[in-house]
Amino acid sequence: MKLEIINAKLNPLKDEDVRAIVDIERHPAVRKWLVEYADEEYEKELEEYRRFFSELKGNDRVEVLVARIEDRIVGFLALWRMDDAEQTTSIGISVHPDYWGRGIATNLIREAVKLAREKGVKKLIIETLEENSAMKHVAEKLGFKLETVRKGKIFKDGTYHDEDVYLLRL
Ligand SMILES: CC(C)(COP(=O)(O)OP(=O)(O)OC[C@H]1O[C@@H](n2cnc3c(N)ncnc32)[C@H](O)[C@@H]1OP(=O)(O)O)[C@@H](O)C(=O)NCCC(=O)NCCS
Repeated sequence: MKLEIINAKLNPLKDEDVRAIVDIERHPAVRKWLVEYADEEYEKELEEYRRFFSELKGNDRVEVLVARIEDRIVGFLALWRMDDAEQTTSIGISVHPDYWGRGIATNLIREAVKLAREKGVKKLIIETLEENSAMKHVAEKLGFKLETVRKGKIFKDGTYHDEDVYLLRL
């Protein structure tokens, strides 16, 4: 299993890659952990992702890394620059459940930390549901520290959940 981490701005994705990303985002085991997602038809969501990737090069608010194993996109990560004076950037990440536990998120985040440093980012954050033990474990393993617990911040599946904010200073 050869894992490659690819910068989607430097290596434009093929349509089948964009579909693979939409499939990851729509997978129920992934969606369970996502805080924000569009609840819409497959084709409509695919169209939005196509537009996002076609405009990616000109979008200076975001960087995208994808994880590829033997021609299949198995995970991806977005670095979103937030509008603040402290040059904070937020990480969003998903890995296809068939590939969980193989170090893909760990590799994606390691590469994202390097990229963020190159871009002059000062603070990297991961905002995650308090119950997301796998995400929290990866964040802590990579040196992120729990900065804030936002009590009852997330309303999901009929109840309020805490949101943990992990921070890495670069
Ligand atoms: C969180 C997620 C990105 C992790 O991806 P991954 O590729 O499986 O992560 P890795 O294989 O690099 O690392 C997983 C680590 O978590 C550990 N882990 C897995 N499930 C766990 C759990 N329930 N509790 C604690 N640790 C857990 C694994 O043992 C592994 O630890 P290790 O590196 O010390 O061996 C993936 O589960 C995912 O896509 N989840 C759905 C979307 C999501 O939650 N995104 C984050 C929203 S902020």
